[in-house]
Amino acid sequence: MSLLVIANWKANPKTQIEAKKLAKAIHQYLVKSKKTAVLAVPAPFFDAIKSLKSKRIILGAQDISSFSTGAHTGETPGEILKSFGVNYVIIGHSERRALGEPHAVVNQKILKALSLGITPVVCIGELSREHLDRALSFVRLQIETALVGISRTKITKVVIAYEPVWAISSNNGRQATPEECNEMIVYIRKTIADIYGQTIAKQIRILYGGSVSGKKDATDFAKHGGAQGFLVGRASLDPSSFSTILSV
Ligand code: PGA
Repeated sequence: MSLLVIANWKANPKTQIEAKKLAKAIHQYLVKSKKTAVLAVPAPFFDAIKSLKSKRIILGAQDISSFSTGAHTGETPGEILKSFGVNYVIIGHSERRALGEPHAVVNQKILKALSLGITPVVCIGELSREHLDRALSFVRLQIETALVGISRTKITKVVIAYEPVWAISSNNGRQATPEECNEMIVYIRKTIADIYGQTIAKQIRILYGGSVSGKKDATDFAKHGGAQGFLVGRASLDPSSFSTILSV
């Protein structure tokens, strides 16, 4: 399985011109290396990214409304994302959960994305690792509530991003070790197996996210951390760092 690398630009950069410049630099690397990457960018930049007509950049969004089109001021329904050619959407990022997004809404958003054929990238991760038993039950609850009502045929379309909240760069945390990452990825897979069985659990792609900054740690997380790809925040805003991650 080749690695899936997703850039999470968060609320960056400041202008459309900068967004295009950044995407262009990433595109150049992708063409040279014959790789692909998902760029999950702020919705106002969708057109700028699309204007590059890059076959190697896959368009991603950072959120999706749980509602369909209609009288929902401020929401961005999946139907609109779909019309822009969005193929992946980050759901339940810790920065959204911290604003009060409840488990049930995360679940509705996943169901919505799946119904439209958009791949949900579901963020799962404990706030602290101090007490492992608490961290495990926190992660289990996030998974069980996220996957309510997802059929056995649809579940294999879901991508999980294990993002320990304490390891995300903006929290000034330390990076997880590949061993810590592996331990939790094994547990996430076991939790999925408890619901859907081993065969299905083995097919689910699990990424790691949290201060992945370059080739060395990407290699370590892929080799020893059980990660089948990365969700990259800060380093995805720097084409040369992001390229070294993509080179793994
Ligand atoms: P980071 O962000 O790579 O800056 O830690 C990852 C994320 O929040 O998705």
